[in-house]
Amino acid sequence: MATVTANRPDHVPADRVVDFDIFAPPGAEDDYFAAWASVRGDHALVWTTANGGHWIAADGETTRRLWNDAENLSNEALAVTPGLGEAMEFIPLQQDAPEHKPFRMAVMKGFANNHVVAMEPLIREVARELTAQIAPHGECEFMEEYAEVLPIHIFLTLIDVPTQDRLRLRPLGQQLTRPDGSMTVEQLRDAADGYLRPYIEERLRNPGQDLFSRILSIPIEGRAWTFDEAQRMCRNLLFGGLDTVVSMFGNIALHLARHPEDQDLLRQRPELIPQAADELMRRYPMVSVTRNLVRDVEIDGITLKAGDLVYLNSSIHNLDTACFDNPHKVDFERNLPPVRHTTMGVGPHRCVGAGLARLEAILFIEEWLKGIPPFRVKPGSPPRYRAGNVGALTELRLEWD
Ligand code: HEM
Repeated sequence: MATVTANRPDHVPADRVVDFDIFAPPGAEDDYFAAWASVRGDHALVWTTANGGHWIAADGETTRRLWNDAENLSNEALAVTPGLGEAMEFIPLQQDAPEHKPFRMAVMKGFANNHVVAMEPLIREVARELTAQIAPHGECEFMEEYAEVLPIHIFLTLIDVPTQDRLRLRPLGQQLTRPDGSMTVEQLRDAADGYLRPYIEERLRNPGQDLFSRILSIPIEGRAWTFDEAQRMCRNLLFGGLDTVVSMFGNIALHLARHPEDQDLLRQRPELIPQAADELMRRYPMVSVTRNLVRDVEIDGITLKAGDLVYLNSSIHNLDTACFDNPHKVDFERNLPPVRHTTMGVGPHRCVGAGLARLEAILFIEEWLKGIPPFRVKPGSPPRYRAGNVGALTELRLEWD
C-alpha cells in the first residue's frame, strides 16, 4: 500500500499514514478479504487520509481490544460517512453507557431465544420454497434470487408487515452500508421513517405480538418509550438486520460452491451444519464499525486524540494468525468458543440479532443442500464484491447439473 504524508494531523506520525479507502480498498471487487489484508503491516494502528482521515486498527488483537473498550471509545459517531451518525441516531447502536443499558435490555428481550426458536418453521418453509423455485433452472444469480429475498421476508414477518414491501426496502439497506451518492443521509433516514411511521404509531397505541410491539412494551426505567426513541430503535433494526444477513448468505454459498468436499461432508453429516455455520461466519466476516475516542489515549506507542475516529474491521481480527490457528482454513470441527470471533462484534454492543442470524444460516445450509445438487461457481462469471461498512457480494452466479 502506498505511504502518503499529505493532509495528516500533527499528532499522526508520518510512518502511520496510508491511503486506504474503506469503501474501495484496492482489489476489493475481486476479493474483499485480500483487499483488507493489505492494511496489515508493521503497525497495530494506521491513519488513512481517505474519507476525511481516520485510524484503522491493523492487527487482530488491537481490533478486538478497541472494539471492547467502551470506556475510551464511543459508539456515537456510527460511521466515517459524513453526517450519517447525526442523521440516524440509532438506538441502541449509537448509545453509550449508562443510557445504552435499558434500551438494549428491551431490545434483547424482544430477541429472546424462545422467540427466535419459534421462527424456525417459518424460516425453514421460506427457505425450502425459495430453493424449490430455483432448483429446476440449473443456475441462479444467488444474491438477487436468494440472498436478498430470504432475510427481508423473515424480518418483515417478524415485524408483521406485508412481505411485498421487500422491494421498497432493499435499496435502503444498500445505501446505508455502501452509499453510492444517489441519496443524502437525511433522505435515506426519511425514507426509512416514512415507511415505518404508521406501523410504529400503531404498535405504540395498540401492541400486538410482533417484534416491535414486544420491545416497545418493555418500559425504559419505569416509563414508556417516546415516539422519537421508538423510531430510532425501529430504524436501527431495519438497517441492522438486512444487509448483514444478505452478506453472510453470499459468503457461505460462495465457500460451498468453491469447496465441493465441504458440500459432500455436510450432505453426509448434516449434524455438522450448526458448527459449519459458526465456522463460516468466523471465516467470512464482513462488518466493520467506527468508534470515536472520548479522550486522548496512548496505544501502540502513539497518542490518539479525543474526537479521532477509529475503524475496526472484523476480518482483521478473525483472519489474524496471532488470534486463530490457521485462520484462513475452514474447519467445521474447529473448537470455536461462540463469542471469541468478532463477526457479531464484542462487548456491550454485541449483535442482538446474532441468534436469529445463526438460525437463518443453519436453515439456509440445510434446505439449500437438500434442494440443490452439487453446485459450483459458473465458469466465466467470477463473483463480485463491494466494500463498505457491511461488505457484500454483489454478484454470485452458481450452476448445477
Ligand atoms: C450475519 C448477520 C449479522 C451480522 C454479521 C451482524 C453484525 C453486528 C455487529 C458486528 C454488531 C456490533 C456493532 C458495534 O459493535 O458497534 C451488531 C450490532 C447490532 N445488530 Fe447485528 N448483525 C447481524 C444480524 C443482525 C440482525 C438479524 C439484527 C436484527 C434484526 C441485528 C441487529 C443489531 C442491532 C440492533 C445491533 C446493536 C446492538 C447494540 O448496540 O446494543 N443484527 N451486529
